[in-house]
This record gives sequence, structure tokens and C-alpha cells, in this order.
Amino acid sequence: MIGPANALHKLLDDYVIGHDDVKRALVLALVCREHVYLEGPPGTAKTRMAELLAAASGLRFFRTQLHRDTRLPELLGDVVIERSPLPDSDGEQIRHRIEPGRLLTAEVALLDDVSRAPGEALNVLLQVLNERRFEELILPLRCVIATGNPTDDAYANEALDPAQLDRFALQLRVSSLLTLEDPEPARRLLDRFADNDACEGSDPEALPAPVWTRDQLDDLHSALGRVEVPGHVRAALLELLRRLVTEYHCNDANSLLTDRTFLVKVLRMFRGSALLAGRTAATLDDLDLLVWMTTFRLPAAVHAALPRELAALRA
Ligand SMILES: Nc1ncnc2c1ncn2[C@@H]1O[C@H](COP(=O)(O)OP(=O)(O)OP(=O)(O)O)[C@@H](O)[C@H]1O
Ligand SMILES: [Mg+2]
Repeated sequence: MIGPANALHKLLDDYVIGHDDVKRALVLALVCREHVYLEGPPGTAKTRMAELLAAASGLRFFRTQLHRDTRLPELLGDVVIERSPLPDSDGEQIRHRIEPGRLLTAEVALLDDVSRAPGEALNVLLQVLNERRFEELILPLRCVIATGNPTDDAYANEALDPAQLDRFALQLRVSSLLTLEDPEPARRLLDRFADNDACEGSDPEALPAPVWTRDQLDDLHSALGRVEVPGHVRAALLELLRRLVTEYHCNDANSLLTDRTFLVKVLRMFRGSALLAGRTAATLDDLDLLVWMTTFRLPAAVHAALPRELAALRA
């Protein structure tokens, strides 16, 4: 990874053991200004990685836990009551408006348990994520990280519906270190908390000082436009998407392969992936990030076959 991105990744490594894909996806999302959905069981450092990403990039951070009764002001800012005299009468007009704060002024936001938000809040969230505007206001929002627990019975958690899921260009599963074949990461985590001094300072939950500046981040973002996505990479992408439809029978009913995401946004993700690898043009290697883009968009068996398909494209 190039300079600042490398520093950020290294910092995440210093504080969080394992979850390498999630760390790389978070850095990519921040540079590309895309949103990420992380799904995994409780206590697998999802929140920790999101707050570290924001702290290490020196960006304004907003964090909220969504619940069945989440009201708009909890997400958007305090309600202000404005009184103004009514012309030609003794009466007054009372108006409620939201003083922009929270998600509306954040640059990085963490929305925990996003699927629990009630309809009204969810609709506004989707609009804000998609358009990065609220009414007349253009938002500074770069990257939203939304989390959810697995949607199986054990967690009584609802799945995001397709329109919601499509807001998150990147979507990854986060697994407990205890489920990995390699016991080393779990041992390192145990050791980390057995010896607090191994972490910076003595508090393993402390937040770091920024390792890159907003300007560096902006420069990286502008550099995206100068990265080329050559014709053979675009052809390979189309070939893969075509195979998903013809060989794996992906369709509107079982998959979420939207034109917006796979024919438009994907290019920016390829550019980001190439840029972070220090290249000025995308290569077939950048297609690997399709695995992060399809975790919950494809049937599980098809998603599992994707690495094999990607290897075949490269061969
Ligand atoms: N891989 C890890 N590396 C370092 N610390 C970890 C790791 N996994 C868990 N922790 C510790 O466990 C705490 C709990 O993690 P966190 O709150 O981020 O989990 P979560 O996935 O957001 O859980 P929930 O779904 O309940 O919100 C972290 O603050 C951190 O102290
Ligand atoms: Mg959490």
C-alpha cells in the first residue's frame, strides 16, 4: 500500500488483531468515499475498527446505535423551535427545524445495527447515504460503516432489504478469531489484553492520534480520477458478470447485481484498489475486490465460487 494508506493499515494492525480483509476494505472505502456494511457476531471488533479508522484519519466521527424507536433528531441534529411574528396579526408562527449535527456534520459515521432503524429513519438514512445531501445541505460525509449481527435465528436480526444493501458498495463478513483454523490470532488477542503495556499507553481501548491529514486523504481521492481502468480489465469484469448470470443463474430474484454498483461504482473501486497498490492503472488483480462487493449480493454458494472464477480469468 502507498504511504498514508499504509500508515493507516499499520495503525489498525497495531490496535486490532486479524481481520485483515476488513481493514483493507475500510481503507479502500475511505479513499473511494464509499460505504461499508460489516456483518458479524457481537464482540468481533467491528465498532473498534470503525472508530479507529475515523480517529486515525482525523475526521469528524459520529456513532450511533440504531433501535426500533430511533427518531430523526438522534441521527440528524437537535430540533430547534423558531418563533416568528405573523404579519398583520398579534399571533406568531412556530416552526420546527433540525439544526444540522450528528450524521449531517460527520465525515465518517458508524451506524450500529442499521437494520433495526424504523421506516422513517431508514428512509432518510438511505437518502443521505446515496446523495450525501439533506434538503439543501451538501454533507461532508465520506464513509459510512454500518454493522449488523448475523441474520440467522440466534441473533433475531433482520436482513437489510436490497435497496438498503445496495447503498454499501463493500460488504464483508467479520468472523470471530476463535473460528479461524489458525489459533495464532486468538492467542495474540489474549496476550494483548493480558499485557496492557503491549498497547500504546496502558489503555488497550485508547484512541490514536491521526496518522494522516484531511489534505492527504483529499489528494488520494483526487488521484483516483487519474487511474486508468484498461479495456481488458473492463472486458474481464463483463465476462465475469455474464458468467454469473448465464452459468450461475444469478437474477433479480436471487442476487443484487445492480448497474449502479457493478457498471458504475465498480470502476471507482478498481481505481482505488490500483491506487492503494501504487499503480496508475487497474489490473486483473483489482477484480479480487468483487469478493468484497458481493458478500450479501450473491447466493452464498455463488459467492464461495467467486475466487475460483477470478483465478480462471487471470489464467
Ligand atoms: N481482533 C481484535 N483485536 C483487538 N481487540 C479486539 C479484537 N476483537 C475484540 N476486541 C476487543 O473487544 C472489544 C469489543 O469489540 P467491539 O465492540 O468493536 O465489537 P463489535 O463487533 O462492535 O460488537 P457488537 O456487534 O456487539 O457491537 C473491542 O473494543 C476490543 O477491546
Ligand atoms: Mg459494535
